[in-house]
Amino acid sequence: MAYKSATKAFSVEVTPYSKRLLQVTFIKEVIDNLLKELQDCPVQALEYKSFLRFRAAQILDKLCEHKLKPFLEKALSDRKTGALLLSPEGINSAKQGDAMVKIATAVVHLIGRSNFDQMSGQFYARWAVVNTDNSDSYLRQPQKPLELHNDGTYVNEVTDYVLMYKIDEQHMQGGDSQLLHLDDWEDLAKFYNHPLAKRVMRWSAPPSKNVAYDVYHPVFEADSQANPVMLYIDQFAQPKDYEEGVYLADLGDSLESSKAKLSFPVPVGQFLLINNLFWLHGRDKFQPHPNLRRELMRQRGYFSFATNPFSRYKDFKNF
Ligand SMILES: [Fe+2]
Repeated sequence: MAYKSATKAFSVEVTPYSKRLLQVTFIKEVIDNLLKELQDCPVQALEYKSFLRFRAAQILDKLCEHKLKPFLEKALSDRKTGALLLSPEGINSAKQGDAMVKIATAVVHLIGRSNFDQMSGQFYARWAVVNTDNSDSYLRQPQKPLELHNDGTYVNEVTDYVLMYKIDEQHMQGGDSQLLHLDDWEDLAKFYNHPLAKRVMRWSAPPSKNVAYDVYHPVFEADSQANPVMLYIDQFAQPKDYEEGVYLADLGDSLESSKAKLSFPVPVGQFLLINNLFWLHGRDKFQPHPNLRRELMRQRGYFSFATNPFSRYKDFKNF
């Protein structure tokens, strides 16, 4: 199904995985022109001068006849969709990693700003998953699934969106991306209407995340339309007692066993951009292989056109 907001520059279609997940394809000419206009702006310049990220966004929107910005704002805030799989034509190899950083940066700076990523010390993070890993979370561990969660649970920055870019993949079997829309979750009402749903809990991360403080917020909040929104992650929740622990363990089991969980591959060169408030994301485990390698990039940040309901909690801020 084609979308009304499509132009020559980009097309929008429903994906085979879900009518809520839209595929956005940028034509090659737009991507070539964007990269040409940014040829004197290396990734380092985007790192050092934050306003250049907005210049990159402006160039992309102009190449898209100023239709991209309103489309992104609408699609990402619309409760019925809120998830995009973006495909820039001609981008399909790890050698184009820097181009991928530029494209992703241009897209998300039309809707907000990417937060400082404590893991990398930049506004984005790139990292590899390899066959063996002994890190202190499941992010880089291929033999374990990354269970459904929201991002931004253990930092004091508002996290409205999550962008996940597939830069490279070698000897890969399994490891599909997984998504769950809150309104498709069979047990949403049960957990949202539970007495602990809005109890403020403690969240803290292991040393590799470079976050030296704890944050405090509930699992659920309501948005301005009174819809449930969520800020939850299995690994970094720190329940204070039996009651909280059992509630969180039941909630995690229910999410993982949901029949509404989407599971699909993201091809190299493409990226997911989701509303982090009503979509949960995760990753399936991989088949072991000695030369397994996957490289990813992420950006997380806030929408400049909306207020995050979790921002009322202590220290949550846009900067
Ligand atoms: Fe995540």
